[in-house]
Amino acid sequence: MLLEDRVAIVTGGGKGIGSIYSQGLAREGAKVVVADIDFTAAKEVAERIRADGADAIAVDVDIASPESTVEMARAANSTFGRIDILINNASLMSALPRRPWHEIPVGEWDAVMAVNLRGMFLCCLAVFPTMKDRRYGKIVNISSSRIYEGMPNRLHYTTSKAGVVGFTRALAREVGEDNICVNAISPGFTQSDTQVATSSAEYMKAHIDRRCFKREEYPQDLVGTVIFLSSSQSDFMTGQLLNVDGGYSMH
Ligand SMILES: NC(=O)c1ccc[n+]([C@@H]2O[C@H](COP(=O)([O-])OP(=O)(O)OC[C@H]3O[C@@H](n4cnc5c(N)ncnc54)[C@H](O)[C@@H]3O)[C@@H](O)[C@H]2O)c1
Repeated sequence: MLLEDRVAIVTGGGKGIGSIYSQGLAREGAKVVVADIDFTAAKEVAERIRADGADAIAVDVDIASPESTVEMARAANSTFGRIDILINNASLMSALPRRPWHEIPVGEWDAVMAVNLRGMFLCCLAVFPTMKDRRYGKIVNISSSRIYEGMPNRLHYTTSKAGVVGFTRALAREVGEDNICVNAISPGFTQSDTQVATSSAEYMKAHIDRRCFKREEYPQDLVGTVIFLSSSQSDFMTGQLLNVDGGYSMH
């Protein structure tokens, strides 16, 4: 197994694609900290992982809060003794109505930046001391393939996901000396429960039509790339962005 005895935090691990990452990492041998603002969902995923014979705990976290992210790292360290992997997956997305840019309330803009960018920053800050001490760390940031096309109607969200790429590159340069890898993935339009619930059939079909592979993208399609970037197989890769969207965009 590629992640035997590694300890991984998955933010937004309780639902959607994050729950599939949590279970996929556990199947590769990782001990998983399922961290989510929806604690009930996080507990269910952790329970499922334990029922399958792997190790997991659930943590109640609001990634936009510094106190909460520090507590998340503390819980991981006190339960499993270290943190090797951070999957920065939690974000505000499906909760956001699709609407023209000039109709986005300023408060909603700020909330998206607070979760999608400040949250990523705070999670990295929280795990950094442990990774630095052990001179090993794998940080995987989740962007979105909508940044390549400048997809309209969620300007704040698209902006935040483009920010993830700049964040990934600059942080990779700053923590290279500590032997910490920082990479990003840009998923295409993916059939998470929330995405399916908030997208029309025409919207989904338009995505499929433009892909090289004419089918839906499922959360499972992303797991292999997350495992690769979390494992020692990618130890000389940092600051990179891997696009996983069935060939919708070419990056
Ligand atoms: N589904 C897609 O089509 C798609 C495409 C590209 C990128 N992505 C990205 O992939 C990731 C997962 O997408 P998804 O479809 O599963 O999203 P989702 O909305 O279903 O899940 C997001 C998760 O993050 C959690 N969360 C939200 N705010 C939080 C906070 N402040 N603190 C902690 N947890 C919080 C939610 O409770 C939820 O479990 C996101 O980063 C999303 O932007 C998704």
